[in-house]
Amino acid sequence: MMEKAYQTRPAQALKGSIEVAPDKSISHRALIFAAIANGESKIKNLLLSEDVLRTLTIINQLGIQTSHTAETLTEKDELVVYGKGLQGLTKPENVLCCGNSGTTMRLMMGLLAGQPFQASLIGDDSLNKRPMDRVIEPLQEMGATINSETVDEKRIITVLPQNESGEKYLKGISYVSPVASAQVKSAIILAGLYARKPTSVVEPRQSRNHTELMLKSLRGKVAIKDLMVTIDCPTRLKALNVSIPGDLSSAAAFIAAALIVKGSDLTISNVNLNSTRTGMIDVLRYMGAKITTEIKNKVNGEDVGRIHIEASRLKNLSITGNIIPRMIDEIPMLALIASVSEGKMVVSGAEELRVKESDRIKAICKTLQQLGVRVDEKDDGFIIVGNPEGLRIQEGVDFRSYGDHRIAMMQSIAGLVLDKAVTIDDVSCVDTSFPGFFRILEKF
Ligand code: S3P
Repeated sequence: MMEKAYQTRPAQALKGSIEVAPDKSISHRALIFAAIANGESKIKNLLLSEDVLRTLTIINQLGIQTSHTAETLTEKDELVVYGKGLQGLTKPENVLCCGNSGTTMRLMMGLLAGQPFQASLIGDDSLNKRPMDRVIEPLQEMGATINSETVDEKRIITVLPQNESGEKYLKGISYVSPVASAQVKSAIILAGLYARKPTSVVEPRQSRNHTELMLKSLRGKVAIKDLMVTIDCPTRLKALNVSIPGDLSSAAAFIAAALIVKGSDLTISNVNLNSTRTGMIDVLRYMGAKITTEIKNKVNGEDVGRIHIEASRLKNLSITGNIIPRMIDEIPMLALIASVSEGKMVVSGAEELRVKESDRIKAICKTLQQLGVRVDEKDDGFIIVGNPEGLRIQEGVDFRSYGDHRIAMMQSIAGLVLDKAVTIDDVSCVDTSFPGFFRILEKF
């Protein structure tokens, strides 16, 4: 990835209607399930971001043919995936590169755990540092053999053939996860498709449930009871026919922009409004935001609709507990909003932010300090004292994105309400989740 600097610009009111990039989480899952379903799956509006294209290339490396490859697929194309069923994947010739994508690496480990061949996974410098034991340990409990080796800060994870020890199937387990993580849950569910007995995962708090919903829509055997998901090994999965809705995490950038830029009145249409993802909207409503949502239709069990936002004067509040996983990727944007709202915002119980694409607690606090905001960094969150008078940047100060797309987008949105331009050192990372971001931003 070539580094790319960006100079922020102040914006006029954001008016009109936009659509944002397709949902990243659903795009990954659509590709993975299409690969192991039986027959031709049709996927429209797949997110063409670096992370998702990594997953596409990997399913190709695992012997799955697709109508287009990561190099040839365009936004207009419908992708056809020629699924070969649960037992149809084949040994890759080369190592599988996950780039910056934690979702790719963790979900792939779950999928590979039950395969009769060996495969190795690698990632970029950021991914090399992110915790993988949270997935390796439960998969080992299921009987998978996974080696993780780090040499010169480069990690290679090798998943050994499942039947090497003579066992064709993984063991079904009941796993009580110490973290509320959809990636951990999804890896175990994918491995559970290759287990002899049912597998269940219990989370401490509800994380996004796209894997369960998609599996259900493909006639997988899934039972959901409170925070427990149980799956049984199916014989086959139905092929997919899906159009991926917009990503609420990408919409978060323009929700923040419309709330903080005076006079804005913006509609974001065709967005995923799954209630396991809408924590930010709930918090903003409590803060007094003029924000409404309308569910228009269901796509593979997911609520899809539109969001209407008007610039608002907001009052800060404290957030912790169950709401955190429902807005985990939106916390950088919420922190930006909090810094121009009235009163104090305390965010706690959000230690997961330390192990995202960057240490987001540190990145958020450093960015806000550069904007003259009173912010106090805590182990599991931060305290912000908002100032509705606005943000101020000192002469000669530049932002550092830490190579993290969500931080780069937060800084770009901050730039809309600054009276001076600021340079962000590298925004190429935004392509991992929202390739059209700057095109939409430039419109305003
Ligand atoms: C994701 C789950 C979340 C989120 C990530 C995407 C997914 O991570 O932060 O951007 O697609 O499952 P965790 O599951 O680790 O919380």
